Amino acid sequence: MDRLDTEIAETPVSGREAPEQATSAAPSRKVFVKTYGCQMNVYDSERMSDALSRDGYTATDSPEDADLVLINTCHIREKAAEKVYSQLGRLAKLKKRRQSEGSDFMVAVAGCVAQAEGQEITRRAPVVDVVIGPQTYHRLPDALAKARTGAKVVETDFPVEDKFTALPKAPEKVIRKRGVSAFLTVQEGCDKFCTFCVVPYTRGAETSRPVDAIVAEAERLAAAGVREVTLLGQNVNAWHGEGSDGREWGLGELLRRLAEIDGLERLRYTTSHPRDMDDGLIEAHRDLPELMPYLHLPVQAGSDRILKAMNRRHTADDYIRLVERIRQANPDLALSGDFIVGFPGETDEDFEDTMRLIETVGYAQAFSFKYSPRPGTPGADLGGHVDEAVKSERLDRLQALLYRQQRDFAERCVGREIDLLLEKPGREPGQLIGRSPWLQPVIVNAKPEEIGDIVKVRITKAGTNSLFADRV
Ligand code: SAH
Ligand code: SF4
Ligand code: F3S
Repeated sequence: MDRLDTEIAETPVSGREAPEQATSAAPSRKVFVKTYGCQMNVYDSERMSDALSRDGYTATDSPEDADLVLINTCHIREKAAEKVYSQLGRLAKLKKRRQSEGSDFMVAVAGCVAQAEGQEITRRAPVVDVVIGPQTYHRLPDALAKARTGAKVVETDFPVEDKFTALPKAPEKVIRKRGVSAFLTVQEGCDKFCTFCVVPYTRGAETSRPVDAIVAEAERLAAAGVREVTLLGQNVNAWHGEGSDGREWGLGELLRRLAEIDGLERLRYTTSHPRDMDDGLIEAHRDLPELMPYLHLPVQAGSDRILKAMNRRHTADDYIRLVERIRQANPDLALSGDFIVGFPGETDEDFEDTMRLIETVGYAQAFSFKYSPRPGTPGADLGGHVDEAVKSERLDRLQALLYRQQRDFAERCVGREIDLLLEKPGREPGQLIGRSPWLQPVIVNAKPEEIGDIVKVRITKAGTNSLFADRV
């Protein structure tokens, strides 16, 4: 259930493609990339890898033979940052060894901890050579070059130039290696300032990429065999970009445009804020077969008092009515959510309101967390902090309910015939794994060369975390 723990992804740099692609003077070096946090960090790691491969870096999945260890961090809760520091502590020995072997071994910290902690990182972890923020990472190759002269480089300003235009495009071969389902960041930052959340501080103000840039990137992905694109943004449904016609488009219009791209069969987007679900987007769920019937729509809590203290700017009832409207537009749509228990001042009654909201809405999937005070956020200064033991007890009850709903939803899928995009090999030979329209992993017998195909299957069984299916 814990997204940050389950979604830790290792994103090896997709190998530099043909050697002639690398700058001729660039020596060959290896980079180990470790990614924490949300999907946006996974996307950022890929883009940083693209930038590094231009400098001659190739991927390694072992830090032991790397010349650069790049840690892309998440700051959403305490444990995540502490994990980074303990990992950095362990790298000091490796750095010594690699340097004695003649490597110019370096450590770079990127992502939201880098943004929030800045120089504190090089102070607390002298092993680190470069600290680079989520809006600055296009400058990573330059920062590494500077660090090679012995300087500590901290790049955490919010630059005026657009990193997306500055970054190199991933070559086709690299995209192919990454698979048939790809992330595409369309929106960055957040202006919502929920009182518990660091994102507005680590990612900066809300910005939207223009339609043409997004379409061009999606077309490149599709041309390289990508069949499914998930549009990303901290507030993806707040996206409003300049359209090809000069007008301002909303996310619903963007999805319609992307659905026209040849080869792109499936569209998803995440994460959405309830305040930004406009009619155009809801209608896209009614009209677009390419748009998967799944929506991650975090509500965080079911008590209006707590929602107000969280600065969510909607009530529980607003949320429930919104869900009804979305389900009217597409009755097959499955919902997912995020929940926080133990926000300061949360009483037993407030918590029961959250349980009731969950019962009313019914989730196919959810992520839930104990409130973790983040320094610099208004929530951290509120009185009435909830006892850890109470938080744990509430989280257990909440997760039991959500887990039951997830199981019930999976059971209801049994017997259904679905289109399955075959994504990668399964654990057993002869099996492939894909995602159902509702994002559940589905295991089916299929040949490796069928990866990228969309096949008809019937769901036969619901396992603990995945579904099993037969070809029809
Ligand atoms: N932009 C997304 C959320 C990004 S953070 C949105 O608005 O929904 C992902 C989730 O982490 C949040 O939805 C919230 O449930 C959780 N989270 C954020 N800050 C937290 C904190 N201080 N303590 C516990 N959970 C937190
Ligand atoms: Fe954080 Fe709220 Fe912005 Fe989501 S909407 S990123 S929870 S401040
Ligand atoms: Fe974490 Fe930053 Fe994403 S704090 S959840 S990596 S936006």
